[in-house]
Amino acid sequence: MKIWLLGMHGVVATTAMVGAKALEKSIVDSNGLVSELPEFDGIEKIAPPEFDFSGHEIRWINEDAYDAALKHWNLNKHYDYEILKGVKDDLKEIIPKKGTALNCGPGVESLGELSAFEKEGYTLREIVDILRDDISEFVKNDGVVINVASTEPVVNFSKDYHDTLEGFETMLDDNITDHANASMLYAYAALKEGIPYGNFTPSVGSSIPALKELAIKNRVPHAGNDGKTGETLVKTTIAPMFLYRNMTVEGWMSYNILGDDDGKVLAHAENKESKVISKDSVLEKTYGYSPYSICEIRMFPSLVDNKIAFDFVHFRGFLGSKMKFYFIWDGIDAILAAPLILDIARFLYTAKKRGEYGVIREMGFFFKSPMDTDIVNTHRQFEILKEWYKNLGRPKGLPKKGILTLGT
Ligand SMILES: NC(=O)c1ccc[n+]([C@@H]2O[C@H](COP(=O)([O-])OP(=O)(O)OC[C@H]3O[C@@H](n4cnc5c(N)ncnc54)[C@H](O)[C@@H]3O)[C@@H](O)[C@H]2O)c1
Repeated sequence: MKIWLLGMHGVVATTAMVGAKALEKSIVDSNGLVSELPEFDGIEKIAPPEFDFSGHEIRWINEDAYDAALKHWNLNKHYDYEILKGVKDDLKEIIPKKGTALNCGPGVESLGELSAFEKEGYTLREIVDILRDDISEFVKNDGVVINVASTEPVVNFSKDYHDTLEGFETMLDDNITDHANASMLYAYAALKEGIPYGNFTPSVGSSIPALKELAIKNRVPHAGNDGKTGETLVKTTIAPMFLYRNMTVEGWMSYNILGDDDGKVLAHAENKESKVISKDSVLEKTYGYSPYSICEIRMFPSLVDNKIAFDFVHFRGFLGSKMKFYFIWDGIDAILAAPLILDIARFLYTAKKRGEYGVIREMGFFFKSPMDTDIVNTHRQFEILKEWYKNLGRPKGLPKKGILTLGT
């Protein structure tokens, strides 16, 4: 199958490509891939773990995926160099197409000299036509699009242009650039071409009503938002414990530090806001009330792609006694994220092949802010994913959707 990566030269995208090619050549095993668990037996017949890659980028666009992967490797040394050497020839053949950076905020502007269509005076309609051609020419109805581009600022929601597909098309035709941004243009291009779309970022992507309408109309599956890989994964795995024991969480502090380009982009308040909303909302969704919360993300250059989270939880038990829980998560972002890119691609592709379309809520397991469901409890999400997979392709109307109505 084909995977079209938005943000193809990023550390997550390049690590996913290195991993996929290394897996294909048996240089590495499938450790870290959810889709290779025995629960998802049979997926290899529908979505084999062999992938061709391409994508859109806005920087280093004349360079190939190996050049980009090597730059990230030199900074991070986040896996054995022999692995990169083993897939060099495969990555040398992968060259990105120029994309759009429309309204991506000062964080993305800070990445350096950008090559993007709107800088050359293209209209919105012209941009989406090029994006559609690029994607469909490569994917040819045999793959998916995954957004792994930098986080955009929170979108300025417009009832006129985002609420209906008709309004969205008007926005494109009338070139209303204030209300459009890159991630929604990419999502529109993919869904318009009937290609499944996964949003690994907190950017808006396909989550506006207009694009959900397009996905239903064109019978395309999509899922997002924002990959759940680190501190939020731990948080949504541990947070339900307090709920099960009927203990009240008074407050939760999460302090995240990271380096790298993701850290550089998130050091800008506008870009950071999307991420904080995404990370912070899980507590209210878990408990049904909002514990006092501090959620901070700060740039720490020397960490490069390592992300460290310090969490402090203050909780109240029997007799009103207050107790404390602390944890430290020290992860390598791209190593946690890369296998999920391949998993999300395989599940979305499988969904398409089995006739599923619209928001695939059952893939919420992979995301911090899953679309159209408030279930953030990792244990429940995993059960839902398994159940959904087991029932895929069965006639509609079976209880597979019903399990989502049981609350968080
Ligand atoms: N564990 C994780 O690493 C993790 C978890 C959840 C979400 N994410 C999200 O995944 C995304 C990628 O993370 P990363 O660490 O690879 O970041 P990165 O900065 O290394 O890569 C992002 C890439 O996207 C490119 N880009 C930016 N805007 C673009 C646009 N409009 N069109 C095309 N390309 C564009 C950049 O040039 C860069 O090469 C971020 O949004 C991040 O928040 C990462």
